[in-house]
Amino acid sequence: MRKTDLDTPSLIIDSGTLRHNIEWMQKVADRFGVRLRPHVKTHKSPHIARRQMEAGACGITVAKLDEAEVMTDGGLEDILIANQIIGSAKIARALELARRVRLAVLVDSQAGVEMLERAASVTGQILDVLIEVDTGKGRCGLVNDEEIVALAGRVADASHLRLRGVETHEGHVPRGAGGPGELQERAVAAGARIVEVAEILRGQGHPVEEVSVGSTPAAPYTASVEGITEMRPGTYVFNDVNQMALGQAHPEECALSVLATVISRPAPDRAVLDAGSKSLFAEAARSGFALEGYGGFGYIREASGARIVSLSEEHAVVNLAAGVDFPDIGDKVTIIPNHVCPAVNLHDELHIVDGEDVIETWPIAARGAIR
Ligand SMILES: Cc1ncc(COP(=O)(O)O)c(C=O)c1O
Repeated sequence: MRKTDLDTPSLIIDSGTLRHNIEWMQKVADRFGVRLRPHVKTHKSPHIARRQMEAGACGITVAKLDEAEVMTDGGLEDILIANQIIGSAKIARALELARRVRLAVLVDSQAGVEMLERAASVTGQILDVLIEVDTGKGRCGLVNDEEIVALAGRVADASHLRLRGVETHEGHVPRGAGGPGELQERAVAAGARIVEVAEILRGQGHPVEEVSVGSTPAAPYTASVEGITEMRPGTYVFNDVNQMALGQAHPEECALSVLATVISRPAPDRAVLDAGSKSLFAEAARSGFALEGYGGFGYIREASGARIVSLSEEHAVVNLAAGVDFPDIGDKVTIIPNHVCPAVNLHDELHIVDGEDVIETWPIAARGAIR
């Protein structure tokens, strides 16, 4: 089948760009001697996770138990659930999974540790945990050294938990960064902080084998910090407009597009596409130093001067500045989403294309896996 024969809206992946992105991040990890454990929330596909493993990844990261279960069924064997697992039903599922794969979860509270310990002591298992440290994002994770040391002590006392290491998601790094230099500085600071935490814990006698960081914009910088052992970027596999806004990806390094059809040209300065918030995801682009003032709801490859100025559920309204050459009614266009991860979660399938040909179609097996 030809790409243009696909019904719209559909997700298409350029196979060469996908391969390039997978290999590129593996090279970054190899250059710094750290393990790559890609976050699969971006693609939600065991097919792509297996390609990342074949390229050299040590395992995968997921955000949710649902995702971990889909990936386990898809043959992945080493999984970090980079999240707090709270509540008896979820903990029972985690312990069940830990019988099937090498598993670890995060902890950032005494209450969370106690829940895990209680359940694991009933089943007689030993569960690996990493202490989540907040290096600036302001989400989960502990900031304060005394609290981190106290939590590590609580894990050490728990006979059914094993402290594997420390973890941070330095997703705050690009927020408000004025340029690549500042981004790099913040990423290195986040890396240095998590290494410092690991050293403090080792000083207290805790064996900290894993020092894990994870974020695509920060990846080439945090991984350079001596003492980091593992990185967990996710978005790099496809890239998106947010990555373009940071100057870290050109359109040709964005592997995924939403294929859409021009369905109306109701005014000289307006075109309408059949892809709205239910296929592109209505998230404004991150303002970045490399795409100043961009502000659209996705980047149209065929007409970079045209702006998607608004989305309704099934329509994208495109503003055509005077002189912009735009495809006609019935023509298809390809749009790079602003934030690729939630856009993927709206679709059932990924169509893999080589040039103009669709060579494979893969289900997005963990689509909607939010529990
Ligand atoms: C815990 C954790 N690790 C790693 C990542 C990957 O970051 P990115 O999406 O920038 O690749 C995320 C992203 O949400 C995350 O939450």
